Amino acid sequence: MRELKILPSILSADFARLGEDVRAVVAAGADIIHVDVMDGHFVPNISFGAGVMKSIRALTDRPFDVHLMISPADPFIDDFVAAGANMITVHAEAGPHLHRSVQRIRAHGLRAGVALNPGTSETAIEYVLDDIDLVLVMTVDPGFGGQRFLRSQLDKIRRVRDMCAGRDIDIEADGGVDASVAGETVAAGANFLVAGSSIFAGGAPDFARNIADLRKAAMSARGEIA
Ligand code: DX5
Ligand code: ZN
Repeated sequence: MRELKILPSILSADFARLGEDVRAVVAAGADIIHVDVMDGHFVPNISFGAGVMKSIRALTDRPFDVHLMISPADPFIDDFVAAGANMITVHAEAGPHLHRSVQRIRAHGLRAGVALNPGTSETAIEYVLDDIDLVLVMTVDPGFGGQRFLRSQLDKIRRVRDMCAGRDIDIEADGGVDASVAGETVAAGANFLVAGSSIFAGGAPDFARNIADLRKAAMSARGEIA
């Protein structure tokens, strides 16, 4: 079984105190920081860019997982590499040259991911399996935090797991993940759990408990002891 990781999405942080929230969520047990980049074009919302990410990068040595919800993505990959990304994910729907995009990420020595919208088939990754390190299955329509988890995507996670069997590929579930669905999500095959509102709601005093609740639900479904 691949290692379980909890990835708080800083989209749900308090942007007026972003640095403090990043420090606090790391102290509370975050494994990887998930960075949601939105352009108001590929998705109907704008978040932040590489400059903001760069300003918080030095606050922790935890890896940064950059989820690009932008189109085109390729012209911005180098900026996020320079800002300190450890892994970068592009959407399969964001451009016509998925193979080129993931090559570009890997050429920098980073792990490359492909994200699939809820309406996109897992077959979109079939011909890039040798070129990717991560598959991000959207469990909401991308664009906003705080939406309801789409149970229809559990089947896609299982299919992605079967397609990726025997390969060094992490499977990430993103959107609406809380302790009530974490167990089923990891049982289906996800080992990276992104969570925004379920971790950040309530503010810093609750981060550790929220992360622990998620981890406990996920670990018990994996037959592990938290
Ligand atoms: C959605 C983003 C997610 C999301 C996570 O477009 O990619 O990372 O904000 O937030 P929650 O957990 O609140 O759905
Ligand atoms: Zn995301």
